[in-house]
Formats: sequence, C-alpha cells, structure tokens
Amino acid sequence: MIDIKGITKSFGSLQVLKGIDLHINKGEIVSIVGPSGAGKTTLLQIMGTLDKPDGGSIEFDGVNVSSLSTNKLSNFRNLHIGFVFQFHQLLPEFTALENIMIPAFIAGMGRSEAKQRAMELLEFMNLTERANHKPSELSGGEKQRVAVARALVNNPAVIMADEPSGSLDSKNKEELHQLFFQLRDNFGLTFVIVTHDEGLAAITDRTIHLKDGMIERETNATPTPQEQPITKENE
Ligand SMILES: Nc1ncnc2c1ncn2[C@@H]1O[C@H](COP(=O)(O)OP(=O)(O)OP(=O)(O)O)[C@@H](O)[C@H]1O
Ligand SMILES: [Mg+2]
Repeated sequence: MIDIKGITKSFGSLQVLKGIDLHINKGEIVSIVGPSGAGKTTLLQIMGTLDKPDGGSIEFDGVNVSSLSTNKLSNFRNLHIGFVFQFHQLLPEFTALENIMIPAFIAGMGRSEAKQRAMELLEFMNLTERANHKPSELSGGEKQRVAVARALVNNPAVIMADEPSGSLDSKNKEELHQLFFQLRDNFGLTFVIVTHDEGLAAITDRTIHLKDGMIERETNATPTPQEQPITKENE
C-alpha cells in the first residue's frame, strides 16, 4: 500500500536520510526505531507527505504523491492519512468532540454526520462521558485516545504515529498499544509507528531499525521457522 524508494533528505549540509526503500502492506503494523537523531521523525513526516524529500518517490496504492500539487496533496493527506503525535496536539479551546470533528469539517463532511461519526469514535474509545470536556480536563491517556479518534474521523487507510505513547504511564501506554491492534484487527488499518518503546516494537509485525539515515535492519515480531527475520545477514 505504501511504497517508498530512494528517499533522501538533507537539512543544510546535514544529510538526514541517505536513501530509504520501504514497502508497507495494508493491515501491517510497522514500527520504526533507532537512536535519537537517526532520522525517524523526518522519515515519518516524508512518508506522511507533511514534508518533501530531496529525492526518491512515495506511492500510496500506486498514486505517486510526490507529483501532486500542494492543494491535491493536502486533500489526499486529510482523507487517507491520520496522524498521532507524542503530545496529542489537541486544540485547547475546543471540546474532545469538537477536536475530533474538525478534520471532518475540513474534508467537507456536514455537521450532523461529523458529530455522529465523532460520537461513534468516542464510544469506541470508551470516552462518551468525556465528549464535552476540553483537553485540560482530560487525563493523558484520554487525551491521546481523543487524538487517535481525531486521526480516524475521515476513515484513513493508514495511521502514522510519532512516539504516540512517549508521554504516557505504563497502564495508558499498554491500553493505547492494544487500541492500535484492535483498530487493525477490526478495520484493517495500517500503522507506521515511530517509537522508543521496546515493548511496543517487540509486538509490531515488523520493526525497521534506522541508523544514521539508513535502514540498518528489519526484524519481525514472532518469526516462525518458515519465516525468519529479514536481516542483512540472511538476506
Ligand atoms: N527542520 C530541521 N532543520 C534542521 N535540522 C533538522 C530539522 N529536522 C530535523 N533535523 C535534524 O535531522 C536529524 C534527524 O532528526 P529527526 O527528528 O528525524 O530524528 P529522530 O530519529 O526522530 O530523533 P528523536 O528520536 O530524538 O525524535 C537531527 O540531527 C535533527 O537535528
Ligand atoms: Mg523524532
């Protein structure tokens, strides 16, 4: 579903991505790990079309997004990709419900439909009671679940998350991780998750290890004897 080839990116004289090739299948949960400064966020932003690469191509289901105009690209992004960040980034002056509805409005959904969809998502997240609370009145775990609901409102095919559980305690972290798997199992969503959390990386289908702007190796969650992890050594 996502095919990226030869992605390069520099900031000034610093080459941050040195040629990344990556294929992500529909329904896969892929984690991206690596030391601080390895280029994980840069890669995710480029995959999510929030930033442009210097070279290389990105295709979503055969659509070459690198060739879309700025307007078409933001439409594409709003409809197909949901984002979750480390610090929820909810708008403080709006309620949980309104925060979830905003991307639906941007996509042109009517008010009643957007509200219905947002309420369904709040229910799925066990947050119905919190619908009319502002972010400052929600716990960290609740805020992050609202942020996930917001990412889901336009029915995206893929969720891209940058250290989504980085600011959560272990219980909320565990719940958020389970939610990702539930969403994949129930709705076939695809996930690309940048994380420093080894527990999360261990349970994702595939882990991409990024180092110095290159893919160092890939590992699989539960390799069976027939399905050995793909590493440089046994490729
Ligand atoms: N907009 C920018 N301008 C200049 N340099 C940048 C910019 N964004 C990132 N960098 C640099 O690119 C490198 C990779 O940054 P990136 O944010 O992708 O790392 P990361 O792997 O996500 O690290 P962390 O785990 O700390 O979040 C770093 O050296 C960073 O300082
Ligand atoms: Mg980062």
